[in-house]
Amino acid sequence: MKIFITRQIPQAGLELLEKEGYEITQWNEKRELTEEEFITRCKAADAVLLSGRRKADAAFFEQCSHLKVVSLFSVGYDNVDVEAATKAGIPIGNTPDVLSLATAETAFLLMIATARKAFYHHKRIARADWDFFEPTAGLGTSLFGKTLGVFGLGNIGLEMAKMCKGAYGMNIIYHNRGHNKDAEWQVGAKRVEFNELLAQSDVISVHANLTEELKGLFNADVFAKMKPSALFINTARGGMHNEADLKAALENGTIWGAGLDVTNPEPMDKNNPLLDLENVCVLPHIGSAVKETRDDMAVLAAQNIITALNGNPLPACVNPAVYQKAQG
Ligand code: DGY
Repeated sequence: MKIFITRQIPQAGLELLEKEGYEITQWNEKRELTEEEFITRCKAADAVLLSGRRKADAAFFEQCSHLKVVSLFSVGYDNVDVEAATKAGIPIGNTPDVLSLATAETAFLLMIATARKAFYHHKRIARADWDFFEPTAGLGTSLFGKTLGVFGLGNIGLEMAKMCKGAYGMNIIYHNRGHNKDAEWQVGAKRVEFNELLAQSDVISVHANLTEELKGLFNADVFAKMKPSALFINTARGGMHNEADLKAALENGTIWGAGLDVTNPEPMDKNNPLLDLENVCVLPHIGSAVKETRDDMAVLAAQNIITALNGNPLPACVNPAVYQKAQG
């Protein structure tokens, strides 16, 4: 069996694949594959381990309908046309759960860093602007006893909620389509309508999967419904927010601050004006970037491939409908 891997992945996952005796090709160049390079290699493979920004769209699945599995090195799957994959009979694997803590930790880090203007103060030192003590300058905002509003409360959102409750005694509200009973029981989270979430939250943290319907949801209208003192934290996908509207909302005081691990587009341009704002902290999409987590992701992504090539349902599958289709 031939496996194509679009990035260098942690040894822990690679070893599992090697043990199976697969023929492995890894893309080692530090640039994204072109579409042609990607398709050519996938055509020659039985399975693909996909990491990075390359999209697997309907045209891809048409040309590579022979693939036995596409295993993502991510929990998010917005770069995959899941419907087209299912139509082609190809299971899509992802890496949920193993990265929940690390990603929630990134959201928590951004929340605190933004509330205390940490990146701005760091930059001040770097430009020799640590002069005399000014009691009223560069002040942050307290998080103690405030309300966290989680948009998309799944495993990552729940870990974020636990951290916020434990560290700051924050009150937790959330907006999901349905109830998350587990979160309601574990952290006393209360489900509210979207407009209530916007109106009541001191911190809004986005943890939903990016779908067509959610693209650009956090725009000028939505920011206008938030508290002027609110923090907007996005560790999900940059496509969830409209970056120009976010910048305007921060500049004109519609909201207070923003912490972003994801931007739109990625990578963010070094001259992006958001980087100059005091109340903004931006990270380069490092949600799961912890050694232990990345090892676990590599193992799960490898297990998804091995299981598929053995003809069994994936341990973590984005499109389980693919199996019903095979049966039917
Ligand atoms: C994920 O796992 O979805 C991360 O955001 C990396 O893309």
